[in-house]
Amino acid sequence: MIIAPSLLSANFLNLEKDIQMINESKAEWFHLDVIDGGFAPNITFGIPVIEAVRKATDKFLDAHLMINHPEHMIEAFVKTGVDSITVHYEACTHLHRVIQQIKSYGIKAGVALNPHTPIDVLEYVSKDLDMVLLMSVNPGFSGQKFIETTYTKLQQLAGAKWMTNALIQVDGGVSLENANGLKLSGADVVVAGNAIFKSDNPLETINKLYGI
Ligand code: DX5
Ligand code: ZN
Repeated sequence: MIIAPSLLSANFLNLEKDIQMINESKAEWFHLDVIDGGFAPNITFGIPVIEAVRKATDKFLDAHLMINHPEHMIEAFVKTGVDSITVHYEACTHLHRVIQQIKSYGIKAGVALNPHTPIDVLEYVSKDLDMVLLMSVNPGFSGQKFIETTYTKLQQLAGAKWMTNALIQVDGGVSLENANGLKLSGADVVVAGNAIFKSDNPLETINKLYGI
């Protein structure tokens, strides 16, 4: 299972230090939570910050766009050098088109589902997807409580007859306590923000998550 530390929980006064810590860790991905204050109730960071992060790491940059009308911003995010872009099903009237738009730049395309959104909405786009992100909290903030129904949803997705080999990512409230259950239920990637950055020893926490 891939561990994707979420930079939203990092120290923005010294981002370089936290990026270096991830660079030296086993973590393979950086998870970048972009929120616009419209789709979800927070405003985080955007293109200039991601450009700076790109200069500080060679690791996989996984952009999670919690924004309305992501189709207007795909090209700008591609230019920052991210390796994947995940958009929300709930933010895309023409989801099929947005997925093709992302893939046309040769990067990976993901779709995220809010906790209340059923998995079946992805059946007819599944073959085009590189990743499905299941939100295990409502989008907006790090440090929220994990929503337990995610396990059932995850098992349903992993076992869906239409599911391809797209990676399954779980995002929100992931911890050392629930990561093993998520792995057993079919998660390929887990995002962790507070569990890593607010722990006493973030490097050790990443190691422990990889040991699960
Ligand atoms: C929520 C974000 C998550 C979140 C993860 O809107 O998509 O990535 O920041 O943080 P934790 O792991 O603290 O829930
Ligand atoms: Zn996220």
